[in-house]
Amino acid sequence: MKINENYKKLKTDYLFAGIAKKINVFSEKNPNVNIIRLGIGDVTLPLVPAVTEAMRRAVSEMGEAETFRGYENSGVGYLFLRQAVCGYYSTAKNVKLNEDEVFISDGAKSDLGNILDIFSADNTVLIPEPVYPVYVDTNIMAGRNIIYTEGSADNGFLPMPGRGMKADIIYLCSPNNPTGAVYNKKQLELWVEYAMQNGAVILFDAAYEVFIRDKNLPASIFQIEGAKKCAIEFCSLSKTAGFTGTRCGYTVIPHELVREGEPLNKLWLRRQTTKFNGVPYIVQRGAEAVFGDEGLKQINGNIDYYLENARVISETLEKLDIWFTGGGNAPYIWLRCPDNMSSWEFFDYLLEKAGIVGTPGAGFGKNGEGYFRLSAFGSAADVKEAVQRIVKL
Ligand code: MLT
Repeated sequence: MKINENYKKLKTDYLFAGIAKKINVFSEKNPNVNIIRLGIGDVTLPLVPAVTEAMRRAVSEMGEAETFRGYENSGVGYLFLRQAVCGYYSTAKNVKLNEDEVFISDGAKSDLGNILDIFSADNTVLIPEPVYPVYVDTNIMAGRNIIYTEGSADNGFLPMPGRGMKADIIYLCSPNNPTGAVYNKKQLELWVEYAMQNGAVILFDAAYEVFIRDKNLPASIFQIEGAKKCAIEFCSLSKTAGFTGTRCGYTVIPHELVREGEPLNKLWLRRQTTKFNGVPYIVQRGAEAVFGDEGLKQINGNIDYYLENARVISETLEKLDIWFTGGGNAPYIWLRCPDNMSSWEFFDYLLEKAGIVGTPGAGFGKNGEGYFRLSAFGSAADVKEAVQRIVKL
């Protein structure tokens, strides 16, 4: 028996698992420190009433012989939820989708990794860096060749394809994790043009789309002309509706996306029906409620709450004259570490001196060195307390 040698090329821990270990060590040594967690982007507000009510109804259905449901059969999601997603795309983004272009899953992270099943291991992958580590790690696991396009303060952490770069698969994330930067329409048009010229496929991570408040910024790659021929979009209810623990997301693969004569939608359908048995009925009913009028109103109230946290953090950094990006249309604030500290030095400093946890930029790649990510998903009280501690420091 031989193991997959590629695993030996990975760092020992997944970024957030490594950070969790560090926090545990610190809190064991300092049991009296009230740690404020602005690290991993985990939500703190509970599920909204529209969702919990829908889930309660679904639980009752599951307890009655007449309405009980077993296997979903398809593993791609119930029609009611796929229709709800299509309705949302139509009204919120003016993008028309067919129900069978939408695949329901347990979240964007799984799909972003699993989608690689349908691509050859020989493909070259282009990744803008700094980056959500899942894109890099899953391709290392598969032994793919990875090339990078460099994000920096000079390009506002919105890197574009470089001259002569030849890629088959491209990852884009906008609003970006970790930097909170958002591509504008013109920039996404250039990415789509590049993908079309190279016959490449864009894997567009839109997990944070609901945080876009500036209506001029694209909230879906499919708002860009031609994108249905070259892009797959991944979305999640984790950040949108507080489903980090509940688990539900969706992936959109347009029928027009065809490579080597094969519609990628068909390949993904084959993959999912073989390897996935679907998201629980109860969760899908909760997810459907997110896209109803009441659900949308309620979850947008939660997004406003997190964006207010982001505003409080941004305002503090402005006062302290610390360079940052993100925050306005994203739940992440990406700041330059003060006094030329490295990312990990600043992580330790902030934890030890102020009891605040953030995420070191270097954990998102070499271009993240010297930067630091703060998440706006904490409680408003914690965020206020955190900025006071930062100012004092
Ligand atoms: C993050 O903090 O980057 C995210 O919460 C991680 C994730 O969504 O998997």
